[in-house]
Amino acid sequence: MKEILAIIQMNKIDATKEALNIIGIPSLTVHIVYGRGKQRGLRIPNLSQLEGADQMRMKFIPKRMISLIVKDGDAEKVIKTIIEVNQTGQVGDGRIFVSPIDNAVRVRTGEEGNEALG
Ligand SMILES: Nc1ncnc2c1ncn2[C@@H]1O[C@H](COP(=O)(O)OP(=O)(O)OP(=O)(O)O)[C@@H](O)[C@H]1O
Ligand SMILES: [Mg+2]
Repeated sequence: MKEILAIIQMNKIDATKEALNIIGIPSLTVHIVYGRGKQRGLRIPNLSQLEGADQMRMKFIPKRMISLIVKDGDAEKVIKTIIEVNQTGQVGDGRIFVSPIDNAVRVRTGEEGNEALG
């Protein structure tokens, strides 16, 4: 199993959720997060000439983070779908991180591993 963590633009969350549902991946967790990437937050250009402009930077930008635990064989299509929905070519399109997961358990039934993900 893999965990796919995708940090995406706030306004892409509904379309991402729908696209994942269509490929058979309905289960996910959404987190409200604040982060910064390569651009180190957001500079507000029209204010950059002003005294105190340093304080006019938005140091952390609100984003949405989705966490999905999926079967190994589903990871590739999940990543592809997230890219399809979120890639605009502009900075801030997001990041995807993938990690191994040891186990999953459905509490209601006691199913484990891939069985718990179906
Ligand atoms: N190396 C990282 N570790 C943890 N979180 C990160 C990392 N890089 C980016 N993030 C998170 O991902 C969010 C989105 O990043 P973003 O899309 O701006 O990536 P980027 O590397 O700056 O790419 P781009 O140049 O396309 O903007 C950030 O706001 C931050 O929350
Ligand atoms: Mg960026």
